[in-house]
Amino acid sequence: MDQVYIENLADHVGETVTIKGWLYNKRSSGKLHFLQVRDGTGIVQAVMFKGDFDETLFKECDTLPQESAIIVKGEVKEDKRALGGVEVGVSAIEIVGQAEPYPITPKEHSTAFLMENRHLWLRSSKQHAVLRIRARIIKAIRDFFDDRGYVCMDTPIFTPAACEGTTTLFNVDYFGDDAYLTQSGQLYGEAAAMAFGKIYCFGPTFRAEKSKTRRHLTEFWMVEPEVAYLEFDGIMELAEQFVSYIVEQVLKDRSRELDVLERDKSLLEKMAPPFPRISYSDAVARLKEKGHTIEWGDDFGAPEETALGEEYEKPLLIHRFPAAIKAFYMKRDPDDDKLALGVDMIAPEGYGEIIGGGQRSSDLEYLQEQLNKHELPEEAFRWYLDLRRFGSVPHGGFGLGLERTVAWICGTHHVRECIPFPRMLYKIYP
Ligand code: 4AD
Ligand code: MG
Repeated sequence: MDQVYIENLADHVGETVTIKGWLYNKRSSGKLHFLQVRDGTGIVQAVMFKGDFDETLFKECDTLPQESAIIVKGEVKEDKRALGGVEVGVSAIEIVGQAEPYPITPKEHSTAFLMENRHLWLRSSKQHAVLRIRARIIKAIRDFFDDRGYVCMDTPIFTPAACEGTTTLFNVDYFGDDAYLTQSGQLYGEAAAMAFGKIYCFGPTFRAEKSKTRRHLTEFWMVEPEVAYLEFDGIMELAEQFVSYIVEQVLKDRSRELDVLERDKSLLEKMAPPFPRISYSDAVARLKEKGHTIEWGDDFGAPEETALGEEYEKPLLIHRFPAAIKAFYMKRDPDDDKLALGVDMIAPEGYGEIIGGGQRSSDLEYLQEQLNKHELPEEAFRWYLDLRRFGSVPHGGFGLGLERTVAWICGTHHVRECIPFPRMLYKIYP
């Protein structure tokens, strides 16, 4: 019999199958060993009866360390009480690789210890659930845009210039010249949107963030749609439809993992558009009412985002920010020149900003002026300004941070658990 994956065992009741995996846990009662076997798709109980085995092999299995690699052959039996509804009556077992004493035991470990052992921690059931949900979110991201006619455009990682301000750039030596790891694919996305109409890029982005918070990574994944002829209201509608779709797909296909994480799914079931909207100016007034010390013109930090997000069950769209606190490329609000047509989406339950975006200025002279104001080298942006020279149109888009979205949907406190190998301030091992 060929290998069967544990997630499919229920389709093989009554058959003898082979499971290739690792020993997750075990207990024994003299005559019986109850082995918890995991193979990456699930965990199943495999029962060994003493009378069926050679004495030394049976004994060996009694002391087999956690995470030893094993191949188990046996009959799949229905067991209504078991997770997955089945267990396996073992007829043969092969020890492929006996493990050394495994450092991660069922007792509580500190996060620092688990992070040091991230390469092993990935095998634990909660990490497993989070990362399977992450993978499903990635598929939902691609499906959403692919199904709507967006063309996937990969943008470069080595870049000659800053997109999101010069304070968080990672410098690399590029054959003797300065280059930077990309902070955002947006500027290239704009060029691609002028070529293909609607596009998205999706890949790792880098920020030399000196902030040590539960929301910041130095390397994170961002998906960025960019659409020609799409204006501000359309951008906000696209963002809410997109986020609503992602949540719906996770609820449909990763319900079991959400249960492992003890996530309150009823909160996620309320994500149908439209999402609430509030202007930056109204948000500042609201925060003042709530006792925050904030003035018009200040940027929101984590406490402000949390306070605003907590008032709503759905993600909140905050729009029209002071132009002075936003990136050089943003279009000004035609109704109020102090404002930029930018939008942030704040997740509920205190997970903070998951989307930043808006409408881009399509005006050549305004952008030249802004580059100067932000002390950005016009030469490095020559190609970008060309987009305003050759058929400039209204356009915009946004960027959604993958790990923050995973954190919110999973109900995971810190983004470090939402990417297989997190990169953070002073942390680059393993
Ligand atoms: O708001 P940001 O900086 O927007 C941009 O980069 C735009 N160029 C996107 C666009 O319009 N195409 O970043 C977008 C999102 C944030 O809302 C947040 O979810 C995530 O990226 N993000 C981070 N996630 C983890 N760690 C960090 N250090 C992050 N910085 C931003
Ligand atoms: Mg932002």
